[in-house]
Amino acid sequence: MEILKWREMYETGIVSMDDQHKALIQLVNKLYMMLRDKEGVDELDAILQEMSDYAEYHLRDEETLLETHGYPGLDTQKTSHQEYYEVMDQLLTEMETDKYQAAQKIYVFLRKWWIDHIVGEDKKYSEFLKEKGVQ
Ligand SMILES: [Fe+2]
Repeated sequence: MEILKWREMYETGIVSMDDQHKALIQLVNKLYMMLRDKEGVDELDAILQEMSDYAEYHLRDEETLLETHGYPGLDTQKTSHQEYYEVMDQLLTEMETDKYQAAQKIYVFLRKWWIDHIVGEDKKYSEFLKEKGVQ
């Protein structure tokens, strides 16, 4: 599996969201490199903590932005974000038994989830927010 490259098609055109999405992809790539280089379990725990914290910050920030501007698809976004939390909770529990295997699963899940979510859901708010004057 190759490292995840940011593409123009992932851009929502909303600067703060794109910056946060890029930072998230970088963290996913950092996890990929740590798994590839067989880094220690403490390092894995640290990157997963950093990634979970940043994801939570981003999802909350995104929901606040959408709520502020009265985005009609807010509930769909919240449901999708909730699904992310549920799967991650489950996968993080698996870290207690086999860290490497669980971290691999987390990597595979996040890589797909973020891209699917950004392209499938987040890009839908681009035009709406731009019309509201958000850049
Ligand atoms: Fe989202």
